[in-house]
Amino acid sequence: MSEAMIYFDNAATSFPKAPGVNEAMVKFLSEDAANPGRAGHRMAVAAEQMLDGVRLKLSRLFEADRHERMVFALNGTDALNMAIKGILGDGGARGSAHVITTDLEHNSVSRPLQAMADRKTIELTRITFDDDGFIDPEDVRKAIQPNTRMIVMTHASNVLGTIQDVTAVGAIAREHDVLFCLDAAQTAGVLPVSVKTMNVDLLAFPGHKSLLGPTGTGALYVGERCPASSLVVDDAARLNPWREGGTGGDSSTPTQPAEFPHYLEGGTPNTVGIVGLGAGVDYVNNQGLGATLEHEQQMVQKLIDRFADDDRFTVYGTRDAKRRVGTVSLNINGFDAPDVGSILDDSFGIAVRPGLHCAPYTHRRLGTFPDGAVRVSPGAFNTTEQIDQVVDALDQIAG
Ligand SMILES: Cc1ncc(COP(=O)(O)O)c(C=O)c1O
Repeated sequence: MSEAMIYFDNAATSFPKAPGVNEAMVKFLSEDAANPGRAGHRMAVAAEQMLDGVRLKLSRLFEADRHERMVFALNGTDALNMAIKGILGDGGARGSAHVITTDLEHNSVSRPLQAMADRKTIELTRITFDDDGFIDPEDVRKAIQPNTRMIVMTHASNVLGTIQDVTAVGAIAREHDVLFCLDAAQTAGVLPVSVKTMNVDLLAFPGHKSLLGPTGTGALYVGERCPASSLVVDDAARLNPWREGGTGGDSSTPTQPAEFPHYLEGGTPNTVGIVGLGAGVDYVNNQGLGATLEHEQQMVQKLIDRFADDDRFTVYGTRDAKRRVGTVSLNINGFDAPDVGSILDDSFGIAVRPGLHCAPYTHRRLGTFPDGAVRVSPGAFNTTEQIDQVVDALDQIAG
């Protein structure tokens, strides 16, 4: 990457990573990178212990009691597929399950759910958001049916950054004995997330965004209301393994061993990435969530204040950056979003994300489908001077 590049695409993946992440990965790769396994040699046991240490850190961060139920995944998409297909994959065989989701979802939620709805293995309700970018939890309550099995929604929109009232949604889900699957892709590492107070049954998140770890990392926390399917035959919350295979421990059982985390962790894990994720989580814990969030919100507020009342621009979602994580999407009226992205890249050395952001339902609701918008997403390491440069660049492009 050019020295001068100013990176504002943190909603896709954070850059740079936290201090200590690269070093931890290089050290592990050069000294300790054996394949983990409880029944193996010392190096294998040490690798397994490293994985457990990172599980524990993540579990503490999200107030999750059972750290063995913190299951590593390849990214947010993998964790969400593990949850959605794990619970609903046999929906057809077990009678039609109803699922509630929203227009704010990323394709990693919308696509698996829509594919199941198309196959008629589930019945799907998609709730929309208000003009500021928020889902009304009461709309979720109204959508609940006797056969509703799961609510799947994002904690914050990856297009608008708007923070959703997921505590209220979690309470509604629990009241109606419905599973709550939370996509914390845009909030893990920057907002407090508690599986306890939010009544989350399945918490999916990537490790490479605000947790400041490398790509190729993520996890799913599986709450105790979701047992392994081999242990219970007739529970609506039973979870099937999405990936089956070697577990580094018990090789004797003909099917996946029912103990977490190995139940869901078939295959050699990304140990090198997970070491880096552990270093990212340490950094996040040392900094404290509040300071980073406030810094990102200040940068977003600058952009909103500068352009929301400017006729040359359309800025989407609430004007109150305190109701957002560090993400704002806008358009320069009369310009295609990809052109603005290219000009920012080519002429100003600024990296943003134009397009649909893997969230086509959000853009349909905003009226920006199929061209999308320009997303500017500051992260922990952006400076106030850099956001001023983005403001100036957008102003110059608009003419
Ligand atoms: C809200 C949301 N959910 C899920 C994902 C998928 O995460 P990953 O890219 O790690 O698969 C993203 C990624 O941008 C996201 O923003």
